[in-house]
Amino acid sequence: MYSSTQPRPEAAASVSPFPAVDLRSDTVTRPTPEMRKAMFEAEVGDDVYGEDPTINRLEQRAAEIFGREAAIFVPTGSMGNQIAIKIHTRPGQEIICEERGHIFNYEMATLASFSGCLVRPIYAEGGILRWEQIKKKIAGKTYYLAQTGLISLENTHNMAGGTVYPTEVAEDICEEAHAVGLPVHLDGARVFNAATALGKPVSEITKMFDSIMFCLSKGLGAPVGSLLVGSRDFIDQARKYRKALGGGMRQAGILAAAGLIALEKMPARLHEDHANAKFLASQLAKLPGIAVDLPSVQTNIVVVDVSGTGMSGVDFIRRVSEQGLLIGSGFGDMVRFVTHMDVNRAACERALEVVRELLRN
Ligand SMILES: Cc1ncc(COP(=O)(O)O)c(C=O)c1O
Repeated sequence: MYSSTQPRPEAAASVSPFPAVDLRSDTVTRPTPEMRKAMFEAEVGDDVYGEDPTINRLEQRAAEIFGREAAIFVPTGSMGNQIAIKIHTRPGQEIICEERGHIFNYEMATLASFSGCLVRPIYAEGGILRWEQIKKKIAGKTYYLAQTGLISLENTHNMAGGTVYPTEVAEDICEEAHAVGLPVHLDGARVFNAATALGKPVSEITKMFDSIMFCLSKGLGAPVGSLLVGSRDFIDQARKYRKALGGGMRQAGILAAAGLIALEKMPARLHEDHANAKFLASQLAKLPGIAVDLPSVQTNIVVVDVSGTGMSGVDFIRRVSEQGLLIGSGFGDMVRFVTHMDVNRAACERALEVVRELLRN
């Protein structure tokens, strides 16, 4: 997903006699036949004029599901996060987030170029920040210090291995942040995975946040799209910044039609991806030279340390790709297996066989 070291599926499949097993990311899924049919039949209009009925329905359903006043459809999660940052901050401020966070590492420093902000990163065990850590990094009210403008949490935390915020930890952060006048944004690209792992509705686990971004195009399987959710006033401002970033789309109800299916139907199957990830992790952990922190495997992401095999992460990824197994790079030298709706248990078994074979040789 993030690195040119990640091979293309066609390349791998041409070497292996088996179809490639693609565990690089949950973004690689193809739209279901039901999504394609809905896209074909979608009622559309010009969304910049607010006239696309399918987009309007998707935005309304997202707001309802999250128990908020309004939502806005954006082409990508990155755009949703960056619009939220723009609204919550002023140039010259700092944003507190976890050191491996997506907004800090993988969004092209847009928080600097678009919002004029810096990140004040904090490393947290398992990617899960606690108020005790955050409060030490909030700038003192001294005129020569850049002031903290926003706290941003990521749930699930991608590069920490899909870890989930315990609801009380996230709520404690929101409550304390609000008490000192700071907003809290949620990068909830995979918040439905978090809700599945916690066995709670998304509305409950996100209710204290000032804004929420979530993706339709990851575990939920839509081809394109994310939503930003919040108050009516917040979303009115977001509409202006979405246009400024070039995200004012026209007959994008074609995309929203698939998004509606992703939103309404796909959360119910995420537990299958989580079970497959746990299975993969438990089997990988038995292999020589492979280290997996099993308790951190809480959703659909398995981050693995392969340094004990004598191979670098890049080499490991290349070697398994030659046998038709595609995996992603994690933070540092880690490698990442991500389960999703287009890989079943049999595909996971095959993935394991490729790794076993590599380590035998
Ligand atoms: C945690 C997290 N936030 C945001 C994003 C950005 O989403 P997009 O790729 O749609 O810009 C990603 C993408 O992988 C992500 O993992």
